[in-house]
Amino acid sequence: MPSDEKPVYPNGKYTDCDVLHQDSPVTPPPPTGRFPAVRPRRLRSSPLLRAMVRETELRPSDFILPLFVRPGTGVRNEIGSMPGNFQLSPDTLIDEIGRATEVGVRAFMLFGIPPEKDADGRVALRDDGIVQQSLRAVRKAFGQDVYLVTDECFCEYTTHGHCGILCSVHGVQDLDNDATLPLLAEQCVSHAKAGADMVAPSGMLDGMIGTIRTALDAAGHINVPIMSYAAKYASGFYGPFRDAAESPPQFGDRSSYQMDPANTDEAVREVALDVGEGADIVMVKPALSYLDVIRRVKDTFDCPIAAYNVSGEFAMVKAAARNGWIDERRVTLEILTSIKRAGAGIILTYHARQAAEWLKAG
Ligand code: PBG
Repeated sequence: MPSDEKPVYPNGKYTDCDVLHQDSPVTPPPPTGRFPAVRPRRLRSSPLLRAMVRETELRPSDFILPLFVRPGTGVRNEIGSMPGNFQLSPDTLIDEIGRATEVGVRAFMLFGIPPEKDADGRVALRDDGIVQQSLRAVRKAFGQDVYLVTDECFCEYTTHGHCGILCSVHGVQDLDNDATLPLLAEQCVSHAKAGADMVAPSGMLDGMIGTIRTALDAAGHINVPIMSYAAKYASGFYGPFRDAAESPPQFGDRSSYQMDPANTDEAVREVALDVGEGADIVMVKPALSYLDVIRRVKDTFDCPIAAYNVSGEFAMVKAAARNGWIDERRVTLEILTSIKRAGAGIILTYHARQAAEWLKAG
């Protein structure tokens, strides 16, 4: 091409590649004299090619489905603010898990709703507690074909709805961190003994991971991993869950233990402590309003990261879809993709079964 035909752009460079890639480490292709030489749309020109260059792919094995279990038989109470989710009894829990495994969802997180509550949540520790019973029943029905995770917390078991034992600080009731730790460890050991594959402490107590690891090891459960709710925010998005688990705090809120939504440095400190104490997987929760936190944790640590696409996030999608305002399938898969793209390889989601069905249908 004669040099006088070279296009010259406002910055004095000769090719559009120079314009587009001024800071790029990639060497631009030689000038063609045609504008534009770089056409990102080329890679979007066919569905097959788009599939080839896709960077993030959802799989049913990425998901953990949270399930709520209460005593009884034949119980299937739909949770009003979480359509398609139910309070189940151990027998109907087995049906629900069976349906999910048919579409490739094999990991479940169990939340217990006990028959009675007390100030210390001691019913959570019983060998015949609702979660312990459910673990045994599910294990009997499915063997090692399912992976069972248990949420470890006391808010469902205490009359006051806080995540452990209370104490009074200057006349104000607050969570007693160090008095709760041994109970939390006992809950984890009891669940591991009943068949939990992994424990997931969600109370945001200081020192919880180290205490639990020591207790699990001492009880012989050295291979039961801990997934820590490491960066869990004091969020308004937990509203529907608290209806489902019958666990709203009866006074105050959880701001003295869960994190301030304004902070991300604090998330890095929390995760660092938990990893140091032996957490195998760290979780960021909620997911959607905290994609930046997921990404920051992913860039800072090299352990597996989970994110909890929580009840309020689920409820918003359901409500808008029911009004015909959004396409539920499209929006849900977009949300789940965004959580994975941000850096979470594991996603806890109430959409797990449906999403797996949609992925299967292609
Ligand atoms: C605590 C716990 C909560 C959730 C999971 N574990 C509630 C809370 O911290 O108040 C919320 C999950 C959701 O909103 O889907 N046991």
